[in-house]
Amino acid sequence: KRHLISAADLTRDDAVLILDTAEEMARIADRPIKKLPTLRGRTICNLFFEDSTRTRISFEAAEKRLSADVINFAAKGSSVSKGESLKDTAQTLEAMGVDAVVIRHSASGAPYRLATSGWIDAPVINAGDGTHQHPTQALLDAFTMRRRLVGKDALGQDLAGRRVTIVGDVLHSRVARSNVDLLHTLGAEVTLVAPPTLVPVGVEQWPCEVSYSLDEVLPKSDAVMMLRVQRERMNAAFFPTEREYSRRYGLDGVRMARMPEHAIVMHPGPMVRGMEITAEVADSDRCTVVEQVANGVSIRMAVLYLLLGGSEPAVTTPSSPRT
Ligand code: CP
Repeated sequence: KRHLISAADLTRDDAVLILDTAEEMARIADRPIKKLPTLRGRTICNLFFEDSTRTRISFEAAEKRLSADVINFAAKGSSVSKGESLKDTAQTLEAMGVDAVVIRHSASGAPYRLATSGWIDAPVINAGDGTHQHPTQALLDAFTMRRRLVGKDALGQDLAGRRVTIVGDVLHSRVARSNVDLLHTLGAEVTLVAPPTLVPVGVEQWPCEVSYSLDEVLPKSDAVMMLRVQRERMNAAFFPTEREYSRRYGLDGVRMARMPEHAIVMHPGPMVRGMEITAEVADSDRCTVVEQVANGVSIRMAVLYLLLGGSEPAVTTPSSPRT
């Protein structure tokens, strides 16, 4: 049984295989008829216990393009509001005969629990759990970087030597954790920039550098990934004023001009314009946020294809969640 729980579970070869398969999927998306029959007769359940726009819609688009039957479950409006547990929800799905489960949950470790509990006999794909992991986001980000910084014909290649700066609320960011793990595996050099109160304890164990000066690292970056400040996950004491945050850690046109000419600006979304990124930067040609969303469909098609329809092993047995 194979699952995709954490970017840390992927070897370099696993990750490159997913990126290469996503390139094939992206070519299909350019055709007038975008569907493949690969997952015809397979049922995939999208189990969303936490809000999502991009991830939920792009998994659904990917599943439909592979001809799977799709069941969408949102906790809001379900029997979860009556107190039903993850175990009972999972066993209800199992009784309906699902072939794979895509899960987003506010609790770090929920996808790992689902994958290892025995409650369900189907591959589990983590679509974001608490502050822990969001592996398909890291894969679509790596895919976007490889296309922009290495080239569309970069099959078999990784991101060796590319310098990636991740800026903002690292403490609460599963996107940052997943990206640090995957980018390190792919040979990139990662620097985190954050206010001291938004740097996780134990970050010195992570395979990356930490800086407190955005202006110093921008000229040395090939990609700059801005993170949203996750106020819904934090105590007010963590947070500088919005104006202070934007002044020190926000990306505006003046700061963007300090980046090398080839360098790109990334954001996983949702963006808070005027906080971590100005409208001028978000709408500029250097910002890949819309491209990242489009690439997300190709990456999710690749993951589903390799887990359910392909013959090559793509992902491995999950390791325990790191907090
Ligand atoms: N990037 C991302 O996970 O966005 P959503 O929360 O809208 O899915």
